[in-house]
Amino acid sequence: MNILLTGGTGYIGSHTAVVLAQAGHRMVLLDNYSNSQPEVGDRLAQILGQPVTQIEGDVRDTARLIETLRQYAIEAVIHFAGLKAVGESVARPIDYYAHNVQGTISLLQAMQATGVKILVFSSSATVYGDPQYLPLDEQHPLSATNPYGRSKLHIEAMLADVARSDDHWRIICLRYFNPVGAHESGLIGENLRGAPNNLMPFIAQVASGEQPWLNVYGNDYPTPDGTGVRDYIHVMDLAEGHQAALAVLSAGLEVCSQPAHLITVNLGTGQGYSVLEIVKAFEAVSGRAVPYQIAPRRPGDIAACYAQVSKAADVLGWQARRGLQEMCASAWNWQVQSRPGAVAKARCYRLST
Ligand code: WQD
Repeated sequence: MNILLTGGTGYIGSHTAVVLAQAGHRMVLLDNYSNSQPEVGDRLAQILGQPVTQIEGDVRDTARLIETLRQYAIEAVIHFAGLKAVGESVARPIDYYAHNVQGTISLLQAMQATGVKILVFSSSATVYGDPQYLPLDEQHPLSATNPYGRSKLHIEAMLADVARSDDHWRIICLRYFNPVGAHESGLIGENLRGAPNNLMPFIAQVASGEQPWLNVYGNDYPTPDGTGVRDYIHVMDLAEGHQAALAVLSAGLEVCSQPAHLITVNLGTGQGYSVLEIVKAFEAVSGRAVPYQIAPRRPGDIAACYAQVSKAADVLGWQARRGLQEMCASAWNWQVQSRPGAVAKARCYRLST
């Protein structure tokens, strides 16, 4: 199929592009490069051994989207483009609603105008808010504690209305848990501008000596070792989940009952790991110390979050297959390949832990 990936040179988009190209699809990567670099296209070409079509553009430019959908005879869209930092969204709610919600409306208008009605949407487990039970299944109540999560909730509700309005639409919302790791080549990975907010890339920078230590945000949660538990999923597993979703949509299978032709699926492993378990696994894989100190809880953090994964297996015929060791090894390889200077200067810090 001819597929448009909005945000296609970003972290999840670029890894999905590898999987889809290797499955024989033809991709167009549209990105405004607000959280990625144009060079990612060259690296994808290096991995794939074939050129990649990429276009600089913003999803809020509806005319540009219509032109692109028509020029490349696009048959399906995977919508990654959006802002995704929880803390930042609290400070910049207008930007988050403009990029995420307005951008999606613009994309839907362009798809409507050109008759392209197969859509995979990049949603997030953030829409579950503070879990009322675990593991989280897709029927768990939805809530938001920040503008980022609320933007995803608004978009999911819009997509449900669109699917109800016209049964030519076929839409899947994929709720990601915690994507980590990188492609085995070390050529693509999480775009790191400055100190990362997320755990795994921060640990990688501590292991390389770029950061002196890890602050563990709280060790008094109701979890086995007191630190936060999350469902980390290898980004390549996540990418394969998108391929499985597209296959279901393009086959035209009846994927769900209500609303017609829209389904929501968790993409996780079903296994939760604590912060300290991640630290230990990373040290074992990298051979580097990851000194840490216990810090106060981070505002807005929840104790534990991990997925019920049976629906993905039943509906998509997909399940995650890469374990924690491979997640850590690929994250470390990306750190080494993408910031060799930092690793070379690595100093070992020892803090009383
Ligand atoms: C994981 C755990 C922290 C950093 C976020 C977004 C979510 C999704 C994935 C987009 C928590 C702890 C972290 C650090 C720490 N993104 N931690 N020290 O917050 O679960 O999810 O990214 O969809 O929407 O909210 O991920 O990696 O920031 O935190 O102790 O320096 O690691 O408290 O328990 P999070 P995270």
